[in-house]
Amino acid sequence: MKNMLEQIKHTAVDALEHCSNLKFLEDLRVQYLGKKGELTQILKQMGKLSAEERPVIGQLANEVRAKIEEEISVRMKQLKEEKLQNQLQAEKIDVTMPGKKFDIGKKHPLTLVMDEIKEIFLGMGFDVVDGPEVELDYYNFEALNIPKDHPARDTQDTFYINDNVVLRTQTSPVQIRTMEQKKPPIRMISPGRVYRSDALDATHSPVFHQIEGLVVDKNVTMSDLKGTLEMFVKSLYGEDSVVRFRPHHFPFTEPSAEMDVMCFNCHGKGCRICKGEGWIEILGAGMVHPKVLQNCNIDPEEYSGFAFGMGLERVVMRRFAIDDIRMFFDNDMRFLNQF
Ligand code: DAH
Repeated sequence: MKNMLEQIKHTAVDALEHCSNLKFLEDLRVQYLGKKGELTQILKQMGKLSAEERPVIGQLANEVRAKIEEEISVRMKQLKEEKLQNQLQAEKIDVTMPGKKFDIGKKHPLTLVMDEIKEIFLGMGFDVVDGPEVELDYYNFEALNIPKDHPARDTQDTFYINDNVVLRTQTSPVQIRTMEQKKPPIRMISPGRVYRSDALDATHSPVFHQIEGLVVDKNVTMSDLKGTLEMFVKSLYGEDSVVRFRPHHFPFTEPSAEMDVMCFNCHGKGCRICKGEGWIEILGAGMVHPKVLQNCNIDPEEYSGFAFGMGLERVVMRRFAIDDIRMFFDNDMRFLNQF
């Protein structure tokens, strides 16, 4: 029996030394140490031994088992290390290889300038509010002092959904919604899309963008309007910009005005860009009509306000010398990639 144990030890150690992968190692462990393994088989015969032999053989069997276990764990470590090294070798990454190129999206030119305009007004303490594009006739016209038979309706070629619902023709309805929901002081701008059934050409699009502005508080005057809008223009076009206000008419403001900026190309002399005028109109504005305040349950005896509205496309076209409004909506990458 002693010889058999020595024999097992030698063959096991020899086999383990030559074992070349973890799977075989496990097979060997089962073969020698498993329940039905060679060593276990021998130990089962211990009962046949004499009382003197038993402890001697027992001790030897334990030594053999310990030796085989030790060899297995040493070999296991080696094989695992080898496997890791092979893997590292095989999966080597060349960090100097050039990366995959992918295109990064850009902001649309309308969004770029819209963001800039929002920043300017946020800096002056205005909130930015949103309103629906499918709007009730009441908010788009009626509450803004444009009753059903008012000629102003004709100038705003309206897309009607039904008698009471329109695609908003202006961002001014957001003024009404804001005043209905909030008590003064109010200081807000509302940018967004508006719709008019204009035929598409180089300067007209049935969908375009406006930015509405509204300030309501005690003692708001025309000079607040002028100061605010002049400061806005100087932030957008530069400190040396010159503006002028011309009397105008809007149903929802009284008095009303249009604001022009002196042409930055010819400085007032008249050129192709300003169509010989020397000035470029950029927005409509005025003091909120008392009737409009009343429609929103704001007492015109206690509060006053000013409002303004400007088209975004024209501002952006001038900024980037774009001569056709359709470019904004064609999604031609050759155009969009320039911004
Ligand atoms: N809603 C006007 C338009 O579409 C622009 C406008 C003019 C808005 C004067 C205003 C304003 O708030 O006070 O032509």
